[in-house]
Amino acid sequence: MFDKQTTLADLFTLKLQGLYDAEKQLLKALPMLSDKATDPRLRMAFEKHLDETENHVARLEQIATNLAVDLDGPRCKAMQGLVEEGEQMMALNATDEVLDAALISAAQGVEHYEIAQYGTAVYFARRLGYHTEAALLHDTLAEEKSADELLNQLAINSVNEKALS
Ligand SMILES: [Fe+2]
Repeated sequence: MFDKQTTLADLFTLKLQGLYDAEKQLLKALPMLSDKATDPRLRMAFEKHLDETENHVARLEQIATNLAVDLDGPRCKAMQGLVEEGEQMMALNATDEVLDAALISAAQGVEHYEIAQYGTAVYFARRLGYHTEAALLHDTLAEEKSADELLNQLAINSVNEKALS
């Protein structure tokens, strides 16, 4: 179970642990999404985000070193659920085009969750005076937002159209 949280700094540590576990789950899930994707641009988007995700893990490790906190914490249940939903999408008996649209929808669920969590973490870090760490978290937040926007563009400009019929 959780240790008792008495300060915003404690809650910030818990957020970092949750993000760390979430990113590590994503490191395993993204190659599966990329294998399943048929649109080459979608595959590239997943591969690009896999590289970025490795960097997100490294940034969290850097923050943990700077602040001397332990990143071992409880499983991120939200990411577990989002990954399971991605697995449901991958298991659909769908055409390639519909499957690509389904993979994007699952991936955007992941990105939106991460955007929400990193957004909170940035503000906690700033309030706690951890400005270097807030900047690192903000770099990751920006990459999560651009990954989401890339998926949006792929869906709107191409994948959804191809899945229409
Ligand atoms: Fe990430």
